[in-house]
Amino acid sequence: MKQEIMTIISQQQLAPRIFQMTLTGDLVNEMEKPGQFIHIKVPRADMLLRRPISINQINKEAKTCTIIYRTEGDGTKAFAELSAGNTLDVMGPLGNGFDVNCLAAGQKAFVIGGGIGIPPMYELSKQLKKKGIEVVHFLGYASKEVAYFQDEFIALGDTRFATDDGSFGVEGNVGNLLLDVIQKEQPDAVYACGANGMLKMVAQVFSDNPNVFLSLEQRMACGMGACYACVCHVPDDETGTKSVKVCDEGPIFRASEVVL
Ligand code: FAD
Ligand code: FES
Repeated sequence: MKQEIMTIISQQQLAPRIFQMTLTGDLVNEMEKPGQFIHIKVPRADMLLRRPISINQINKEAKTCTIIYRTEGDGTKAFAELSAGNTLDVMGPLGNGFDVNCLAAGQKAFVIGGGIGIPPMYELSKQLKKKGIEVVHFLGYASKEVAYFQDEFIALGDTRFATDDGSFGVEGNVGNLLLDVIQKEQPDAVYACGANGMLKMVAQVFSDNPNVFLSLEQRMACGMGACYACVCHVPDDETGTKSVKVCDEGPIFRASEVVL
């Protein structure tokens, strides 16, 4: 993990409130695993806490990394005002990342993303495909208007879409896509990132599969295991005192390791 002032190479808007930013710096040399995140200082003196954003793409040759984020509050809105040539104070890479070594060439992975949980699944899918693993994507958005990165995922493998309002793909959430498909095909591993409800459903649908990896989202402060702001409970904890820290023990856990 390093801290560095990274330079913005480009920033573009992909959809309403959704932005893609590419950054360059030595910190890219440290980035290996999909699913890790960077912790970015908001460029405002009155905002002390960094904001965690997942790594969407790593390009070692170009020494760049890409993030995709949705503007929520003042922190992400401040990121959206920046442009090429501006700098950001970045810590990272943080978190454990997805386990891609539990699969061998020829096996099949289901890669599931919902809303703003979709960005880290792109680097994951690229790395799985490079290992010769067959990837099937299940992507859910609120509507066609806020959908992004569809062509990029299609270029990597079979991709199925759902939208809450039915304006693109199947109507409903990603669960509707999964319930239909599991009658016909079973994956060797499942990777998911999205809202808690979606993660719960994924854990239920694939409860017999030991290789279900979920990326959890919690509000974070330090981002490196020191403050306990980001804890999540674990199963079979009769005392209610055991927990895991999402920032450094996660954000990715096997479904059996956490209570959602
Ligand atoms: P704030 O003013 O801090 O909050 C605005 C609203 O967003 C509030 O309603 C608040 O409850 C909600 N919010 C803030 N942080 C979180 C959070 N961590 N989880 C759920 N709700 C939150 N966002 C992206 O757009 N792209 C990503 O790739 C991405 N990756 C993430 C990876 C990790 C490991 C984590 C923990 C979060 C990630 N997030 C991502 C969420 C992102 O960190 C928050 O949206 C951001 O910190 C909000 O900051 P803000 O100052 O704009 O909003
Ligand atoms: Fe401080 Fe996780 S954010 S321990």
